[in-house]
Amino acid sequence: MSNLIVLGAQWGDEGKGKMVDLFSEKFDLVVRYQGGHNAGHTVYIGPVKYVLKLIPSGILRPGVQAVIGNGVVIDPAALLDEIATLEKAGIEVAKQLVISNRAHVIFPFHRIVEKMSEARKDRTAIGTTSRGIGPCYEDKIARRGVRIADLLDTGNFRALYENLIDDKKTVAEAFGIPFDIDAAALRTQYEEFAERIRPMVADSSTLLRDAMNGGKNVLFEGAQGTMLDIDHGTYPFVTSSSASAGGACTGAGVPPTRINGVIGVSKAYITRVGGGPFPTEDHTEVGEQIRKAGKEFGAVTGRPRRCGWFDVPLLRYTTAVNGFDSLIITKLDVLDELERIPVCTAYKVNGRTTTDMPATNRELESIEAVYETLPGWKSSTRGLTSLDALPEAARRYLDFLQDKTGVEVGCVSLGPERSETIVVPGSRLEKLLG
Ligand code: GDP
Ligand code: IMO
Ligand code: MG
Repeated sequence: MSNLIVLGAQWGDEGKGKMVDLFSEKFDLVVRYQGGHNAGHTVYIGPVKYVLKLIPSGILRPGVQAVIGNGVVIDPAALLDEIATLEKAGIEVAKQLVISNRAHVIFPFHRIVEKMSEARKDRTAIGTTSRGIGPCYEDKIARRGVRIADLLDTGNFRALYENLIDDKKTVAEAFGIPFDIDAAALRTQYEEFAERIRPMVADSSTLLRDAMNGGKNVLFEGAQGTMLDIDHGTYPFVTSSSASAGGACTGAGVPPTRINGVIGVSKAYITRVGGGPFPTEDHTEVGEQIRKAGKEFGAVTGRPRRCGWFDVPLLRYTTAVNGFDSLIITKLDVLDELERIPVCTAYKVNGRTTTDMPATNRELESIEAVYETLPGWKSSTRGLTSLDALPEAARRYLDFLQDKTGVEVGCVSLGPERSETIVVPGSRLEKLLG
């Protein structure tokens, strides 16, 4: 029996959705614990493509309970859209989905606040997903947010909502910005949303603890990645939630003592969407080649992802923060055509060589990556089902990553489909998966 966290070890889009979908076969519940519909988790089941945003990828397995935890921020319109899309595809969402009564609610004015903040001329834009995620978390931390339970509390919602609207109006007026939201119409719309989601809302942390006590297995599905974590990421170019392992406990309401393992998902290279420091970014045509081969365009916004090389100091840092038991290396196949593959093994910061992660944006921006270059394998790895079948150079590449990061590579992904995966026999990951 085990309760596992699967999360991003880089800047997101590592292939978490694919892995969570694959592993969910062995779990009773799959839980999202942070973020919102800024996430885009792609899953292929045969030729059929699903992009999960707010709903845990486990929903695609009949019988698996999918839980949206208290740490998530929910735009009810986006949630209902996603539910409708999945139901159209034949998935029994109403039967499988549980929504935390303590999750916070995103309103359209959160998106407006975000747009204003991103458009400010006196600061560099973060390059957010424009989903209202940050401003909703701001209201949560400022203790004026509206939670799902409040939305459903017919007698009290109006007062809480009007408080929040007044607050936004006051700020907008102070900055001379027109506040042209029809507050009453929006309230009515949200009251309608409330009735549609009411049957799925529950005290999800109690449900999860009861499930664990009853011997059920729970898989926690991270969104974003550790380098986008509000505390541990490349601040301020981060998201507004705790994307690292600690976030699973606070964002789902489960005790740390019930977690049996933490699995990091990392690409065989690295990508980033939006602004912010990126020490191993490749601006040449090789970076472009990776973007093409890896289809590196945002699942949510369609933006081209910035591409670069595997970064060992970064992986060692995210391993330290999360305590990874095992690493999953995805998209190894994307490197199939390369002659040579650089791997960053150290940073030069202000002329000093280090493997530590600097804290300030100024230092992060000044990092000069130090590379070791490994030979490529120049042959297709798609469809290979055992490590022995991999070209020798590909095996050497994986061994190199394992040695340098100090964590086992417990799984290798060689394509977007479930079958295109090798779980390493005898690995800690294999044992944790039972
Ligand atoms: P997530 O946000 O971490 O779930 O990742 P995304 O879904 O945003 O991006 C990962 C993309 O890579 C998706 O389009 C996946 O279908 C695809 N993918 C996942 N694993 C592999 C792999 O091993 N090889 C290839 N070629 N594509 C993969
Ligand atoms: P998944 O779960 C990659 C990035 C945005 C931006 C920053 C802040 O699919 O891996 P936000 O809208 O969250 O305030 O934007 O975070 N970002 C992601 N990048 N994958 C994601 O999710 C992301 N979610 C947010 O591009 O740089
Ligand atoms: Mg994604």
